[in-house]
Amino acid sequence: MFETAANTSAQKRYTNTLLQAKDLSHGFDYTLFENINISINKKESIAILGISGSGKSTLLHILATLLKPKKGSVDYLGQNMYLQSDKNLLEIRRKEIGIIFQSHYLFKGFSVKENLEISSLISNKKIDINLIKKLKIENTLKQNVSELSGGQQQRVSIARVLIKKPRLIFADEPTGNLDRETANDVMDVMLEYTKQSDRGLFIVTHDEKIASRCNTVYRLKNKRLIPVIL
Ligand SMILES: Nc1ncnc2c1ncn2[C@@H]1O[C@H](COP(=O)(O)OP(=O)(O)OP(=O)(O)O)[C@@H](O)[C@H]1O
Ligand SMILES: [Mg+2]
Repeated sequence: MFETAANTSAQKRYTNTLLQAKDLSHGFDYTLFENINISINKKESIAILGISGSGKSTLLHILATLLKPKKGSVDYLGQNMYLQSDKNLLEIRRKEIGIIFQSHYLFKGFSVKENLEISSLISNKKIDINLIKKLKIENTLKQNVSELSGGQQQRVSIARVLIKKPRLIFADEPTGNLDRETANDVMDVMLEYTKQSDRGLFIVTHDEKIASRCNTVYRLKNKRLIPVIL
């Protein structure tokens, strides 16, 4: 079992840092980025901008424990994620980390309610009806997810992740299919979630207005992560 921040002395030193990545380099056919350093504190929201193909999703997957980097380390609460046993890593991923994918993997053929119930069952957390209302999907509960618009599916996939109550959320273009007003509503929900307890939010977006609502903004450019002020 992975121990929580309260119960190991090593973790007590990381009182404010949730995740710290050092000297990350990665690429497939060619190097996408190198020597990336990034960390996130409790209650912090971070946005990553960058042109299509610059490696934003790849970086997010590395930070979210899904992809081992060619070089560098990712420490979650002071422990190197890619040195954990598979069992530990699965446990951390299941309980502590919520990932909203660019292509939302809902269970097709099931209703919205069933999709949310699966998340609630797996995490043993109740579905918060206020969350469903804030995401404006309360009228879709009986519908099959394949009947929903892209933006509705996106909001269901956000609800499904938040139901789990993860400490760290990684969201890959969570507002990509949404109009400005709905995008801002979704950001309200995610930012409010992050400010409660000791949580953190990473989002990847093309939208500078959305990015500017986060505490910290970076741009992935020329293989580096550059802090930007919007
Ligand atoms: N599993 C993989 N195998 C091989 N190449 C990959 C893989 N994943 C990503 N790539 C390549 O790495 C590059 C960066 O991909 P990535 O998805 O990280 O970009 P992105 O910045 O998220 O782009 P977008 O804004 O279009 O989502 C692309 O050229 C992509 O084809
Ligand atoms: Mg991407």
